[in-house]
Amino acid sequence: MVDWVVFDDLMKDYTMLDDIPVTSLPRHDDYQRTADWLLSHTKQRPLVGIICGSGLGLLADTLKAQDSFPYAEIPGFPQSTVQGHAGRLVFGELKGRSCVCMQGRFHMYEGHSLCKTTFPVRVFKLLGVETLIVTNAAGSLADGYQPGDIMIIKDHINFPGLSGLSPLNGPNDDKFGPRFPAMSNVYDKDLRCLAMDIVKQMGLSQFVHEGVYAMVGGPNFETVSEAKLLHRLGVDAVGMSTAPEVLVASHCGLRVFGLSLITNKVVRSYDGQDQVNHEAVLEVSKMRSHSLQLLITQLVGRMDMNNNTHF
Ligand code: HPA
Repeated sequence: MVDWVVFDDLMKDYTMLDDIPVTSLPRHDDYQRTADWLLSHTKQRPLVGIICGSGLGLLADTLKAQDSFPYAEIPGFPQSTVQGHAGRLVFGELKGRSCVCMQGRFHMYEGHSLCKTTFPVRVFKLLGVETLIVTNAAGSLADGYQPGDIMIIKDHINFPGLSGLSPLNGPNDDKFGPRFPAMSNVYDKDLRCLAMDIVKQMGLSQFVHEGVYAMVGGPNFETVSEAKLLHRLGVDAVGMSTAPEVLVASHCGLRVFGLSLITNKVVRSYDGQDQVNHEAVLEVSKMRSHSLQLLITQLVGRMDMNNNTHF
């Protein structure tokens, strides 16, 4: 089993990809052992996995027939350190469909390696999950977006990935997926259309957009020049998570759907007085989290099951 404390200690001196001690990376057995433990502690057999972003963990509390496990109790599972991220895995039903929900995710900026932040996704796969729903808090760059709006993620730009930081670095595990996974069609089109349909029925169209998410490393928010750069690149919303989990999910054949809750506008002018801060991000998350929960609940209730063409 991976001892994450020893693992972190080993990894801290390795900045060059060539130097990563491959023997210390998690192996298929490590994911399997965690999945087996969970399967022996719950009767739920989830087909949907949900990762709750900053302040969006309340969705997990709405699951029926819950079994929940603090991360610290799950063998081999990493631990979360961020305020607003409870750190539990919650199994239960949404609209009668079995789900597993991460209440609290792992971020690169906490000092975790990317294979650690994405460890739960491969565990989901081994639990039998077929569809991954990711949510996050994000700052907006698109002109028409307001704090409190929701963005259905159409595509992403993975800045850490573009500069060589990938959870797939190291030997490829063919049992999970191919060495060179395609990423040109990751956010499932049918689920995006279904979500838009639900949004219309809920009367939320004016608050919901479809757009491009960019992941930056954080933990700092953007400088004005960085914000201008992201805007010119066509980024609609920026955050500090999601891309690694989506990459690993797509690699192992999970169908992916993603939502960003817009918590702030990213400052793009030197004259602006507004300064974004983490408390404001959590405050807006709380304000709109109910709509986001309803949207996800409806989506889970109406999505096709066993229709995953990614295998
Ligand atoms: N930038 C990066 N990450 C974020 C932001 C932001 O403005 N808001 C919430 N997460």
